[in-house]
Parts: sequence; structure tokens; C-alpha cells
Amino acid sequence: MFSFGQLLLGLGTSILLSLALPWILVFLYTVWARQQGVNGREKLLAELGQPPDRRVVGYFHPYCNAGGGGERVLWTAIVRSQRNEPNVVSVVYSGDIDASKEEIIAKVKLRFDIVLDPSSLHFVFLEKRWLVEDATWPAFTLLGQSIGSMILTWEAITNVVPHLFIDTMGYAFSFPVVSLIASVPTGAYVHYPTISTQMLKRVTNRQSGVTNRNFISQSIVLTYGKLLYYRIFMFYYSRALRMASFKMANSSWTKNHVDAILVHRDPLLEFANTFSLARFLFAGPPASAHKQSAQIVYPSCDTRAMSSFPLTPREPVVLSVAQFRPEKNHAAQLQALAALLKQHPSTPAKFVLLGGARNDDDLQRVDTLRLLARNLGVEDHVEFVVNASYAEVLEWLAKSSVGLSTMVDEHFGINVVELMAAGVIPVSHASGGPLHDIIVSFEGKPTGYHARTPEEFADAIHIALTLPEDEAQEMRQRARTWAVQAFSEDEFERTWNTSGWRDVLEEGYTQSQ
Ligand SMILES: *[C@@H]1O[C@H](CO)[C@@H](O)[C@H](O)[C@H]1NC(C)=O
Ligand SMILES: *[C@@H]1O[C@H](CO)[C@@H](O)[C@H](O)[C@H]1NC(C)=O
Ligand SMILES: *[C@@H]1O[C@H](CO)[C@@H](O)[C@H](O)[C@H]1NC(C)=O
Repeated sequence: MFSFGQLLLGLGTSILLSLALPWILVFLYTVWARQQGVNGREKLLAELGQPPDRRVVGYFHPYCNAGGGGERVLWTAIVRSQRNEPNVVSVVYSGDIDASKEEIIAKVKLRFDIVLDPSSLHFVFLEKRWLVEDATWPAFTLLGQSIGSMILTWEAITNVVPHLFIDTMGYAFSFPVVSLIASVPTGAYVHYPTISTQMLKRVTNRQSGVTNRNFISQSIVLTYGKLLYYRIFMFYYSRALRMASFKMANSSWTKNHVDAILVHRDPLLEFANTFSLARFLFAGPPASAHKQSAQIVYPSCDTRAMSSFPLTPREPVVLSVAQFRPEKNHAAQLQALAALLKQHPSTPAKFVLLGGARNDDDLQRVDTLRLLARNLGVEDHVEFVVNASYAEVLEWLAKSSVGLSTMVDEHFGINVVELMAAGVIPVSHASGGPLHDIIVSFEGKPTGYHARTPEEFADAIHIALTLPEDEAQEMRQRARTWAVQAFSEDEFERTWNTSGWRDVLEEGYTQSQ
């Protein structure tokens, strides 16, 4: 059935898996201890002055005070729950031991303008966050952080057992721990998959390349080792993810990756797993038995500042808002401008490349771009705006006609949402989030353009700049209406609702009675 090499692989796997034994003993001990003890809920509800029949939802977000996009999702979910569900109390498992509950709530207000109600919100402060920090695991980072997150989850759950546990930071290995210790239902909101099937494929290809070319045996061992490492990791990652009762993804890019992971199959490891103790921990269904795919829940974008700009008059400005990072592909914008000037020498278009420069490399890149503009003979039509203030960004958004985004395979593209909300007609590279999530047709009509080559970009920009006034106006309005609505908090709440979290929560509550 299996070749000799595969059997060796299987044997190695079983040995590796059995290393998990001590951990499993710790968990079993905890299960036992938990059955004797309390779950922390009564005490917490009493402290908050809430009746004992409240439902408790736990959000696992060890970096909840970081103030980034992921945190915005967390606080929006919680504030919406507070507004709509008076019988739900939210618990955040946080590793920010230096900040108090009041401080975190104040920062959320300041940073996101989200007002949290302290009477139905509780924080469990975790001491062991260092276990998931990059610096703790210079080697075997994936594995180290995953085991670290399991111990961190253990710390969280032994403090307060919720009725529903939602991981909002991508620690899928928390699910087996929660299931084992507390048998509570779990849910996932995924921003970014920890490992992707592509990554695994890349390592696999490298491995076959090495064996074919008959490299020295040491490198074969190393590559085999790495492949095995990734394979085992992917196998258990997909098992862990499948344990969640619902899975949400922040974009179609993430959803596609998560869906591929959910149906990931590895018969050999499946076989090895039946003899390993890890199977009691990762009790999720095999890929063949899994039907549910991830559901997209877009984070809400704050478009209030730009969505009231008048749609006219607009200057013939073609605006790009993107940090001067290599992947943003600013050179393609200059090439598009060169193509545009070649086809339409009298075009009034003026390109404005606006963006932050984080360091010397970025600044150097700006210099190189200026040089390129000169070499292409387009420097009179370009303006670089480096490190503009937010107010300046808004000014440009208010007067530009066309917006430009040239990054290839951008996962999302919040800058494109902002262009559209500002009434700027977007032209983006035909890939990633701008193609699949953002510049899509609305009410059967386009909300912008896509392009690949400099010539296609030039064509699209020319079309957008020369639309008849009424058509331009309609398209600006359509782009704005769509962007503001699709990435609004209401839409976030509506799609979050359809994950079915409420039913899962009731299930968890009933089970605990
Ligand atoms: C999803 O999360 C990833 C990782 O944080 C981020 O790069 C991406 O922009 C997010 N997508 C959306 C729609 O916010
Ligand atoms: C832009 O801002 C960053 C950080 O705020 C700073 O490090 C950098 O030096 C600034 N660059 C310029 C050109 O002012
Ligand atoms: C989400 O569900 C709650 C009830 O659980 C309801 O009050 C709220 O209106 C729903 N929100 C949306 C936008 O559908």
C-alpha cells in the first residue's frame, strides 16, 4: 500500500506525535481538576452585578490592546453584541497585563471611537503571553507558537469557562484544548491562515527537486525533515480548524485558503494518527467528513471622513494612496502614465503618488521612482507626496477623479475602499481583493475598472477621465454607495449574525446546565 520511504515517514511521525504525551497528561489532569472545581462564571457574573443566567462568550485575543485592524474587528463584534444581546456577557482573554480594564476601554474609544459598556465586559489577563511571541521561538516558530498558544488557552480556560469560545487572532490550536478541558463549542474568525496549502506545496516541490538531482544525503534528510514538519503541522492545523462550529474569514482571499485547509487530506498521516495519542486531543472530523466552508465577514472600514465629499467638481488628478513599499508596484503607475501620454499626448491627467515612507529603504525607493519618471519623460505629470498628514490625504481624496492601485494579488485593499467612498473612480490591478471583493459590480453596473498591463491601465484611466459628466457622476455615486454599505458596521453585524453564533452559544449554554 505504501512505499518504503512512506513507511519510514509514517514511523517518524508516530515517534514525533508521541512526544506530545506529557502535554496530554497535563491536559487530562486539568480535565480531572476542572470536574472537581468551579468554572469561574458565577464569580465573574456576581462581580459584574449580572444575573447568573447570563450567557458568556469568550474572545481569545491575547493582543487585544494593539489597536490594529484585527482589534477593530474584535471590538466591533463585542459592541454589537452588547447592543443587541442583553443576556450576553463578553469575556476577552487578553495578554496585556500592563493595562487595566478601564485603560483598554478608554483606548478603544480613542482609537476606534467604539464605546464599550463595562457592565457586560470582563477581561481575563493572561500571564503566559510570552509563549506565543516570535522572540520566544527562534527555531520551529510555527510549532513553538502553536504549543505556546495551547498552554495560553489552558491558562485562559482554567480562569473562566465560557459558553462559547471564539478565537479572533488565528490560534486554531486553542480549539482542541477548549474542547478537551471544557467541552465548550468554539468558533473562529480568521484574518490570516497560519500555514497555507501553497506553502506546503512549495516545500513538496523543493523536496522532489532535491531527490531528483541526487543531492548530498544531508540535504535530503533536512528537506525530508522540513517537509514532514510542514505536513504534520498542516494535518493538525486542519483538524483543529475543523473542530470550530463556525468559521469566518475576513476576505475572499482568506476564505479560499481556509477552505483549502479544511478539505486538506493526508491519508498517510491519517493512518499514523490512529496510533498516536494526539488523536484524543485533535478530535476533529477527518477532511472527508467535513462539509462546512468558511463564511466571509468583512471588517468594517471607517469611511465617515470621506463619504460626504461632494462628487463634483473634480480635477483630472489620478491618485495613488499607498506606502512606498516594493509590493505596491509604483513603477507600474509611472509606466501606465507613460503609456497614457503616448496614446493621448494632450491628456490633462496629473498623477499624484501619495504615501508614507517608513524608513531609508522607502525613501530610496521614492528617489528611484523620481528617476524612473525622468527616464520615461513623464516627470512633468507626476507629483510625489511623501508622509502626508491625514488631513492632506483627505484633501487629495476630495478633489481627485481617478484612483490607482497597482499591487498584484493584494489580499484586501482598504485604500481602494477609501477611494471609492470618497467618490474617486478606482482603477486597480485585476487580482486579489480589489478584483474579487471591492471593485465589483453593484446593481448590475461597474464601480470601477481593472487592468493588467501599462496599456490596459492607460486605457482604463483614459476612459474614466473622459466619461461624460452624468455617467462619471453616476459611477462615483455607485462606487461610494457600494463601498460605504458593503464595508459598514451594519453589514459586518449582519454577516456575523449569519455565522450562527447565537445558536451555537445556546447549545453551549444548554450543555452546561
Ligand atoms: C485580513 O487580515 C489580514 C491579516 O491581518 C490583512 O492583511 C487583510 O488586509 C485583512 N483583510 C481585510 C478585508 O481587512
Ligand atoms: C515618514 O514618517 C516616518 C514615521 O512616521 C519616519 O520614520 C520617516 O522618516 C518619515 N519620512 C520622511 C521623508 O519624512
Ligand atoms: C443581528 O442579530 C440580532 C439578534 O441576535 C439582531 O438584534 C440584530 O438586528 C441583527 N443585526 C442585523 C444587522 O441583522
